[in-house]
Amino acid sequence: MPNKKTVIIAGGAGYIGSCTAYILEKSGFEPIIFDNFSSSKKSSSPMFPTFEVDLTDFKALNSLMTKIPKAHAIFHFAAKALVPESTERLWDYFHNNINATLNLCETAVRFSIQNFIHSSTCAVYGIPKTLPIREDHSLNPVTPYGHSKVAAESILNQYSVWKRLRVINLRYFNPAGGIPEAGLGEAHDPETHLVPNLVESFINRTEFKIYGNDYPTPDGTCIRDLIHIRDLAKAHLSALEVLETNNEISFENINVGTGRGVSIKEVVETSEKILGKTIQTRFEPRRSGDPAQLISDNSKMKNLFKWTPELSVEEMVKDHLNFILEENW
Ligand SMILES: NC(=O)c1ccc[n+]([C@@H]2O[C@H](COP(=O)([O-])OP(=O)(O)OC[C@H]3O[C@@H](n4cnc5c(N)ncnc54)[C@H](O)[C@@H]3O)[C@@H](O)[C@H]2O)c1
Repeated sequence: MPNKKTVIIAGGAGYIGSCTAYILEKSGFEPIIFDNFSSSKKSSSPMFPTFEVDLTDFKALNSLMTKIPKAHAIFHFAAKALVPESTERLWDYFHNNINATLNLCETAVRFSIQNFIHSSTCAVYGIPKTLPIREDHSLNPVTPYGHSKVAAESILNQYSVWKRLRVINLRYFNPAGGIPEAGLGEAHDPETHLVPNLVESFINRTEFKIYGNDYPTPDGTCIRDLIHIRDLAKAHLSALEVLETNNEISFENINVGTGRGVSIKEVVETSEKILGKTIQTRFEPRRSGDPAQLISDNSKMKNLFKWTPELSVEEMVKDHLNFILEENW
């Protein structure tokens, strides 16, 4: 049997990185995790070789690179990613998200790793001017987090132009759900995302806050494009396959979403059906910077990857709940 290809998963102890590492391993790759555990626990990536490194430390990163097998690709998930926190801690967000990206790009070039897959976000678009959002929509982020991601994208683009790094920049919409059979799922601290907070309100019988019920949407609550973490992880595998099979690609932005919008109220109702109980909700004022609707145009993804995200909001809620139950067993 041929040797498995090593892939570096930067930020692989976090939510999306750990789930993607699992899917990559199932598909025949050998993931190696680089993480500083600034927003994850050491225990969250026990399945794979894991190295503690702060990616903003260029020397430490390069010294680590001499100790691992030659890598076939870098998957870059490592970022500070809490939108509200980013408005308070600008230096931390810009320093971390920009320097980690810059150091990984330079390291990729120095160690002759051509394939690079980056975790970006629909936050780069800001308040959408047109829906569904296409990749060529203007970039008008409204938070420091979004700006740090635009800066990261720009660095990656320049490395693709001048250093022949081959980049797929995945702009995620709203990931949710888990891979409970592998003990993997979403557990940020603090948790700012919809599905984990809904499930927590259900478990702890606390009120779930809905921010804004006066948006110009059919039920007044925001509309989001939720994508199951299994589909999102699979998109990374497809991104690498595209780089492996299509030599013409040097840099591509790709939206990763379902192309379908669902309102916050609808997600609450779906969760209630699955959980078999009413979840107490309370309306709060709108949060600044929250767009009324975020829905991807995912046609580029479908054309390039040749599949469509298929898992439902029901499955996201079920898988998240099962992940939490497994964790607390
Ligand atoms: N979760 C979402 O809803 C979402 C949506 C869009 C985009 N994204 C992007 O996806 C990526 C992963 O998100 P997540 O939800 O898994 O986040 P996460 O916080 O769970 O994981 C990020 C990981 O990166 C590590 N990290 C951060 N800075 C580092 C550094 N300097 N050196 C080494 N490790 C570092 C953290 O310790 C953590 O393990 C991020 O880049 C985020 O911006 C996430």
